[in-house]
Amino acid sequence: MPQTSPQAAVLTELEPVVAENLDRHIRMAKEWHPHDYVPWDEGRNFAFLGGEDWSPEQSRLDATAKAAMFVNLLTEDNLPSYHREIATRFGRDGAWGQWVGRWTAEEGRHGIALRDYLVVTRGVDPVELERARMDYMTTGYDSGDKSPLEAVAYVSFQELATRVSHRNTGRATGDPVADKLLARIATDENLHMIFYRNLVTAAFDIDPDETMKAVATEVMNFEMPGANMANFRKNSTIIAKAGIYDLRLHHDEVVAPILRTWKVFDRSDFGPEGEQARERLAEFLTGLDAQATRFVESRERMRARMAAKGETPVQV
Ligand SMILES: [Fe+2]
Ligand SMILES: [Fe+2]
Repeated sequence: MPQTSPQAAVLTELEPVVAENLDRHIRMAKEWHPHDYVPWDEGRNFAFLGGEDWSPEQSRLDATAKAAMFVNLLTEDNLPSYHREIATRFGRDGAWGQWVGRWTAEEGRHGIALRDYLVVTRGVDPVELERARMDYMTTGYDSGDKSPLEAVAYVSFQELATRVSHRNTGRATGDPVADKLLARIATDENLHMIFYRNLVTAAFDIDPDETMKAVATEVMNFEMPGANMANFRKNSTIIAKAGIYDLRLHHDEVVAPILRTWKVFDRSDFGPEGEQARERLAEFLTGLDAQATRFVESRERMRARMAAKGETPVQV
């Protein structure tokens, strides 16, 4: 990104907002320890140390909870890629650098806690998990050529999506221990979302048109990281069918509330480019809402069919 671009200027203007929000984050974040959330007394050795290797009947999680835990943990695992994306885009100096370090340390905690829980409770196959982690991390994650404003808009939505997904995964496990752990992680994700959301709020005031264009682009192209993760498509379908993360939640609990906070549809400070971007976004949201309604209706029909056959559909 050339230093003369309007976006680079916005980034420089955002620096004090970053510092202010880093302070806010550190004040708000409560220290917690992964080991407190793991039921260690359920742990035992695997065959390598004379115990027994994993087998499916040892898991207390059903197929839905397994799929969601697997995706959530692998998503956390690819942290080095996300760190690289953020550090490369925003630099490692000053408040940005401090934030990137702090954020990375917190995200690292999430992966540690989830893995410890899953290995100790034998929730998923640790061999499959490790192989998938190796593949996913080796490929890495690349968010493409997002501008800095697009990147902060994207992570605002992505952190909230992660929060919703962790929270609902916790409920889907049916295990109070996992539920407590995932609720704790979700609280962190919420604070991360607030950090990025506040930056975008400030960016709207600094450069309304560029910010509006960036937000519209990110909502219209939104994808969770993970598309190149093992079994991503299959697992995403399971997660959506159970209502852990689906289009309705994406529209109602992720996109809409953040856009409301930014007052995107109430602002009157856009030039022609901002107006156009807002119109494109409005049209996209109407389509997304309709698509979400169709998805929920077809899920209801599927659940009704299952219930008629005496099967219990998984839902949160
Ligand atoms: Fe996380
Ligand atoms: Fe996060």
